[in-house]
Amino acid sequence: MCMNKDFNYKELVKKYYTELGIGEWKRLVKDPYHRLEFDTTMYFLKRYLPKMGLILDAGGGPGRYTIELAKLGYDVVLLDLTPKLLEIAKRQIRRAGVKHRVKQILEGSIDDLSMFSDEMFDAVLCLGGALSHILSKASRERAISEIIRVAKREAPIFVSVIGRLAVLISELVNFPQEIEIEDVFRRVRDTGDYYGGYGFAPCHFYLPEELEKSFRGKGVEILEIVGLEGLATLHRKELNRLHKKYPKAWRIWWETHLRTCTHPGAIGISEHILIICKKL
Ligand SMILES: C[S@@+](CC[C@H](N)C(=O)[O-])C[C@H]1O[C@@H](n2cnc3c(N)ncnc32)[C@H](O)[C@@H]1O
Repeated sequence: MCMNKDFNYKELVKKYYTELGIGEWKRLVKDPYHRLEFDTTMYFLKRYLPKMGLILDAGGGPGRYTIELAKLGYDVVLLDLTPKLLEIAKRQIRRAGVKHRVKQILEGSIDDLSMFSDEMFDAVLCLGGALSHILSKASRERAISEIIRVAKREAPIFVSVIGRLAVLISELVNFPQEIEIEDVFRRVRDTGDYYGGYGFAPCHFYLPEELEKSFRGKGVEILEIVGLEGLATLHRKELNRLHKKYPKAWRIWWETHLRTCTHPGAIGISEHILIICKKL
């Protein structure tokens, strides 16, 4: 498969998440390993969000963060590419009793936020790799500009993407035979681009320095970069065992995770990398 002008990667992304459906709603809470992404993101959201205000959850899918933030008293606008996930979000928002806090649920793409005026939001989120699912570099740049444009001055911006080195390690650990699909493996290794077709939606996998560079000089101050799985990356079985059998060790690991997740080594290997900026 190659990337030519007829290659409609957004349709493939939509198809992937439509088929995943409720699986995407469960993803962040399916076990302690997956909760690391959610809990670490929430930890940093709580550190940098203003006390109240209107938040845009762009690429928010089935609405895990929308609902959690609505429960904390924020007003939220949820936008996503995949209508099926927005249907699930509507149900879960009703179920959670936070419908009054969710001001709009919109179908759209993060590279065109023209439905929102400049400086409309007190914080903007784009979490869990929505930005990674934009394959064209120019469109990713546009998405970043849009996310920054709709944030108020001083507002925090949180964007998490999928890390490239973790994908390479995952091939070694989980899918060694896929390394033999040389052109795909080498393209991911050398450019970060994956065109789909082997069990995941088209994606651009980021190196941390690439993520940082893409926000530099854009009218924001970079506050932190965080490896959301950190040192536990791709140690799912071991982390889940720690949680199940060793509660004291688990607490000490969480403390260790928070102390190390901003270390360049931990950021580099993480499956998800979060950048936190403040609009100037
Ligand atoms: C792994 S899910 C993350 C959902 C949510 N942000 C979270 O962290 O739980 C990736 C989401 O990105 C959405 N997405 C992919 N490309 C997008 C685009 N161009 N614009 C908006 N959403 C997009 C998908 O529909 C999906 O909901």
